[in-house]
Amino acid sequence: MTMSTVRFLLNNDVVTIKNIDPNLTVLQYLREIQFKSGTKEGCASGDCGACTVVLAELDSNNDAQLHYKSINSCITFVGNLHGKQLITVEDLKNGAKLHHAQQTIVDNHGSQCGFCTPGFVMSSFALHKHNQKPNRAEVLEALAGNLCRCTGYRSIIEAAITSSQTSEEDSFAQHYQATVLKLAEFQNLPAPTLEGNGHKFVSPKNIDELAYELKAEPKSTLVAGGTDLALSVTQNLATIDKLVYVGSVKELTRIEETDSHIIIGSALPYSQFIDTLHHYYPDLGEMIERIGSKQVRNTGTLGGNIGNASPIGDMPPALIALGATVTLHVSGVERTILVEDYFVDYKKTVLKPSEFIKSVQIPKPTHGQTLKLYKISKRIDDDISAVLAAFFIEQDSQQNITNVRLAFGGMAAIPKRAPAAEAILQGNCLTDETVKQAKIALATDFQPMSDVRASDKYRMTVSQNLIEKCYLELQSANARQVIETRVVNYA
Ligand SMILES: Cc1cc2nc3c(=O)[nH]c(=O)nc-3n(C[C@H](O)[C@H](O)[C@H](O)COP(=O)(O)OP(=O)(O)OC[C@H]3O[C@@H](n4cnc5c(N)ncnc54)[C@H](O)[C@@H]3O)c2cc1C
Ligand code: FES
Ligand code: FES
Repeated sequence: MTMSTVRFLLNNDVVTIKNIDPNLTVLQYLREIQFKSGTKEGCASGDCGACTVVLAELDSNNDAQLHYKSINSCITFVGNLHGKQLITVEDLKNGAKLHHAQQTIVDNHGSQCGFCTPGFVMSSFALHKHNQKPNRAEVLEALAGNLCRCTGYRSIIEAAITSSQTSEEDSFAQHYQATVLKLAEFQNLPAPTLEGNGHKFVSPKNIDELAYELKAEPKSTLVAGGTDLALSVTQNLATIDKLVYVGSVKELTRIEETDSHIIIGSALPYSQFIDTLHHYYPDLGEMIERIGSKQVRNTGTLGGNIGNASPIGDMPPALIALGATVTLHVSGVERTILVEDYFVDYKKTVLKPSEFIKSVQIPKPTHGQTLKLYKISKRIDDDISAVLAAFFIEQDSQQNITNVRLAFGGMAAIPKRAPAAEAILQGNCLTDETVKQAKIALATDFQPMSDVRASDKYRMTVSQNLIEKCYLELQSANARQVIETRVVNYA
């Protein structure tokens, strides 16, 4: 395979990097190599947003258009920058004039110690770039991954609202065409590589190149968004010998629909498929909006969420409940299995050496099916689940349950179904009695553990109560339907 170096735009300047350790994060690169210290380090774990920068990349559906997204630079490896434009807080000012994302912070008194301010400014800038008419909820969503410890959020939110509505053209709009052309030029280069400190990074461009890299060095570590993997470097001080970046592999970064399924490439970030899933499964769309923050969803992927095999990942229980499948690929050979069969034991999966996750297939809903999802965490935004409950229920016209899958995260070493509770419900109607029996049976399905997020007792009690909550919600939805039907009939 012909290789080139990692190349990107730092604002409007072409940067070529070589002889840099690919374990370096974008934040470290900016502060320690570029000496650009406007971008701050708060937590180095993706939680506080102080390190937020913006990436512009060619839109996958229209390569004449740029897509701007906020990311956490502290958990993004420097090689992931290839082919993109990196914009930092230092780049916003046009001559002596502050960008409106900055000026509105000044005007609204949105900064005290100022440590969080560059991060808020960059999140606000990213929002403005793709939504000039955001509603309040969209503004809050854009800022939810940024924490401030002294100003208070009211003035910052007001600043972001005003900035996002400003029609004033900025320097990025003026350079738009030149940026598109430059990024297109980078895209046409052969797969980039980066080597430094004895560590290596490669970024294959298609599935054959990816399969080749993994066959040649099966011990390579795959990296997609890095929102999970980079923490092993920034928090556990690990170093990774060889990183293989999947975010440029075209077959892994698309979303397709057939009559019966939604097929999501393993390396497509959440923010690029959330709308489609929200359309078919509103509960799932809402749950994904609670995965991390905007910054995390702009880079984090399904492949990474399944691939890290965490017992508290949010997507696996939902996918298991939906009966979704995952396609695995090794050296041109593919196999498709149920997501529930992917997990073997704590952090152990069926993935063979050199094999990787290619895509996930989610069945589209049909009549009589219901999906209910409940994420239990200490905060609404930017928090990992103590328990994730995913209930799929299919009922016939008599309300008998013909198919049921109750899947849980946070209740065992792997995301898992509850066979005993399911057996109580299968073939029966949801009634006070069957629900009571299912709750009792659940205690035989799981022996959850206690940790910082929740005690074993809390996990079991909340899971049992979620079955009841689901029942009550379905009952009241049915009751509403009956009332609506009556209203229509009497009219
Ligand atoms: C602040 C913060 C909040 C978070 N909140 C949540 C949350 O609410 N819910 C939640 O579920 N997760 C959360 N996460 C965890 C993480 O963001 C998700 O699991 C995300 O989906 C990981 O995707 P990624 O692309 O970043 O994975 P990466 O970090 O790139 O990779 C993760 C693992 O998967 C492997 N991998 C990646 N791609 C593939 C592939 N194609 N085939 C096989 N293996 C692969 C990698 O080798 C690595 O071991 C959070 C993380 C942070 C930092
Ligand atoms: S430094 Fe806190 S999110 Fe990056
Ligand atoms: S202004 Fe001090 S942390 Fe936000």
